[in-house]
Amino acid sequence: MSRKRVAIFISGRGSNMRSLVEAAKAPDYPAEIALVFSNRPEAEGLAFAKAQGIATAAVDHKIHAGRDEFEKSVQILLDLHRVELICLAGFMRLLTANFVRAWEHRLINIHPALLPAYRGLHTHERALADGVKIHGCTVHFVVPEMDQGPIIAQAAVAVLDDDTSDTLAARVLKQEHLIYPAALARVASGKLKISGNRTYDDASTQDFSPLRVPEIDDV
Ligand code: GAR
Repeated sequence: MSRKRVAIFISGRGSNMRSLVEAAKAPDYPAEIALVFSNRPEAEGLAFAKAQGIATAAVDHKIHAGRDEFEKSVQILLDLHRVELICLAGFMRLLTANFVRAWEHRLINIHPALLPAYRGLHTHERALADGVKIHGCTVHFVVPEMDQGPIIAQAAVAVLDDDTSDTLAARVLKQEHLIYPAALARVASGKLKISGNRTYDDASTQDFSPLRVPEIDDV
């Protein structure tokens, strides 16, 4: 089985990166982590990746004249490590439309809300302020418009009466760690098809599952 070479982009703690690294240890996982990259040299997650024997690199965006210059350096690293897919995992830097288009359908992101609700920052605080009862997280393909793009996976959590943004964030994060490895596996396996904003598994490449329950439409 050929495994897709993946770069994970982080800006801080890197707990989602860890979940992807752990998942990729399984011999039948369809992706391998070829590079962990950060725009912040001091990002805590880099030490974990290094300790795992994974190539790491940091390009401080502040030392570059602008976004284009920064992304040129990033692209050189991606070429050097023969990266085929990029996972943004708490990467807190907007990418230009040029970069995003160059990686169309090969660039995915995890967002701590049930998109299209709560695009942008402070998602848990805003969800609590709105009094929603269901919140969650989304893995999606990246398009030039922030926090848009075809959705690959979502998980929902109930908002509890005594939730604070911290307790809610922690419960959502647990789900992030489950859906991100699963979503990457679907993308890397080549089974995922995209139609407009929707994604689905290509039936012709699905293995027969004896657990599959026939639905009315199947009859
Ligand atoms: C995660 O909750 C991720 O969904 C969020 O940042 C956190 C990073 O945590 N991403 C965004 O808000 C992107 N707009 P981690 O570094 O422990 O994975």
